[in-house]
Amino acid sequence: MLKISQIAMAVAVALTSAAMPAYAASPEPIQPIQAAKVSNPALVELGKKLYFDPRLSMSGFISCNSCHNLSAGGTDNLKTSIGHNWNEGPINAPTVLNSSLNVAQFWDGRAADLKAQAGGPIANPGEMASNHTLAVEVLQSIPAYVAEFKKALGTDKVTIEGVTKAIAAFEETLVTPNSRFDKWLKGNKKAISQTEMEGYKLFKDSGCVACHNGPAVGGNSFQKMGVVEAYKASSPAEGRVAVTGKDADRFNFKVPTLRNVELTYPYFHDGAANTLKEAVDTMGRLQLGKKFTDEENGKIVAFLKTLTGEQPSFKLPILPPSADATPRPKPFGK
Ligand code: HEC
Ligand code: HEC
Repeated sequence: MLKISQIAMAVAVALTSAAMPAYAASPEPIQPIQAAKVSNPALVELGKKLYFDPRLSMSGFISCNSCHNLSAGGTDNLKTSIGHNWNEGPINAPTVLNSSLNVAQFWDGRAADLKAQAGGPIANPGEMASNHTLAVEVLQSIPAYVAEFKKALGTDKVTIEGVTKAIAAFEETLVTPNSRFDKWLKGNKKAISQTEMEGYKLFKDSGCVACHNGPAVGGNSFQKMGVVEAYKASSPAEGRVAVTGKDADRFNFKVPTLRNVELTYPYFHDGAANTLKEAVDTMGRLQLGKKFTDEENGKIVAFLKTLTGEQPSFKLPILPPSADATPRPKPFGK
């Protein structure tokens, strides 16, 4: 088992240095989160409104923020999400915070980027249960939205392309810099306590960094859940194999970011672990063949809590009212 984690470590280190040339000289496997750079503020503003607008759902009740609540770490804190008609989804909602740093989107990476991802939930019958034609019709009927599309994208014509582009531009601003750990990385040696420091050492020395590394402390590779010992999931999801069709990818999931992990409970793709203590214990045993003592576990958890960064802060968007001709919601899809 030691071998597996050593190989994974070598691969991960190679991957990180290839992907992050700016930090090639950094002695740490984790790098600070950079503040977002906004090139088209009008597009970000539009995307923010769309992110909060429940009229993108059939019921008129569910927005992106329903399941990726920006007041709660960009997630819903539910085992698995609740969508249209109280539908209980099969899988835990990952945070949208820092999702622009992911190698691909979704637990199995089936969407290449945030733009490709954003169209999915709108038309997913178990999530927002609308369809792209209807979503576009709703927005096109609202004059203030049309004016915003014109300002942001230079056209009066609302398209699903424009919608997903705007949402993705907003999501790119949802980064969380200046965590205490980042302050430490940048040289403020007092930013974390002795216990938290010892937790970081355990995190590195035990091999957690083989998979959880880079600025997002994860998000940059797909790895087996259950390397040393099998994981008994309560979700039918099989991971990356659903995308590649390769048997070797069965039960490989995107390594989740550990940024803000204090806020994003419950944990794992099936949301089965309620606490960080439980998640760290499971990771130690299943991924590394290591049983942590309570004291070690407590130190690692203390370290993980230093990864909570500045949460996105902005004025709550006020959504333009529907026009007389705007198609009305169908709360039960009828
Ligand atoms: C009903 C709840 C629900 C709604 C509404 C919803 N999502 Fe999600 N979202 C999820 C779940 C569950 C997943 C994980 C699905 C999977 O991996 O198969 C997810 C995955 C994602 C991811 C991928 C994150 C990662 O780390 O892989 C992003 C980004 C995202 N959603 C953004 C959005 C946006 C933007 C909207 C609105 C257009 C939205 N979501 C609406 C539940 C929801
Ligand atoms: C071989 C790669 C690998 C190693 C080593 C590893 N992890 Fe993970 N980690 C993953 C994967 C993959 C997941 C997602 C598994 C799932 O949801 O089924 C995950 C999930 C987690 C989660 C839950 C995050 C969330 O949002 O759901 C935590 C916390 C975590 N790991 C901490 C650790 C710690 C602490 C260590 C070291 C003791 C560690 N991991 C070692 C790959 C790894």
